[in-house]
Amino acid sequence: MRKFGIPHIVLALAGMALLSACGQEDTATAPSDTNGAAQEASAEVKAQIEARQAQYKKLGAAFKTINDNLQSGSPDVAAIQTAAASIPVETATMADWFPEGTGPESGVKTGALPAIWENRADFDQKIAAFQTAAANLNTVAQGGDVAAIGAAFGATGGTCKACHDNYRLDD
Ligand code: HEC
Repeated sequence: MRKFGIPHIVLALAGMALLSACGQEDTATAPSDTNGAAQEASAEVKAQIEARQAQYKKLGAAFKTINDNLQSGSPDVAAIQTAAASIPVETATMADWFPEGTGPESGVKTGALPAIWENRADFDQKIAAFQTAAANLNTVAQGGDVAAIGAAFGATGGTCKACHDNYRLDD
């Protein structure tokens, strides 16, 4: 049985190389065989999913800034304006955040439901509705009328929910 020892060691080393390739930007040491190629593909998928989650976190933070200010007795209108201006910029490419293969079937932890890719036209329409509302929120925010900002904020929040209800896990 001793002859099986070497392949096991080779596999273990290959596994370590793959793990380190996942954890680091440097993939130069990744093996170039089929397994290596598959692992690199999934490292790319993982990076795509993590990048979109980071973008949604930013969006959530900007949204919270606006909400917190609207709730406070004395809103910081400049802070609202800065946050509202950041949203269209940060979300302009949202339709590109969901390439095929970046759903739960990737094995990467994600709140993106398979329904996204089954109803892509509707999903893209939800993105467009959000972008229209977010652009309006920014325009209204720059006007500085807090009551109007509150209304535009509520309308934008409705477009977040409309998407999350159908296309995001546990929301
Ligand atoms: C067109 C669909 C869509 C719209 C519009 C949308 N979201 Fe999401 N959101 C998602 C999906 C899908 C995920 C899960 C992403 C993942 O885990 O890969 C998500 C995740 C998030 C997360 C969690 C990020 C994390 O991983 O911690 C936050 C926060 C969030 N969205 C906030 C918002 C807010 C606030 C809005 C509106 C201002 C919004 N989203 C609009 C689809 C959408």
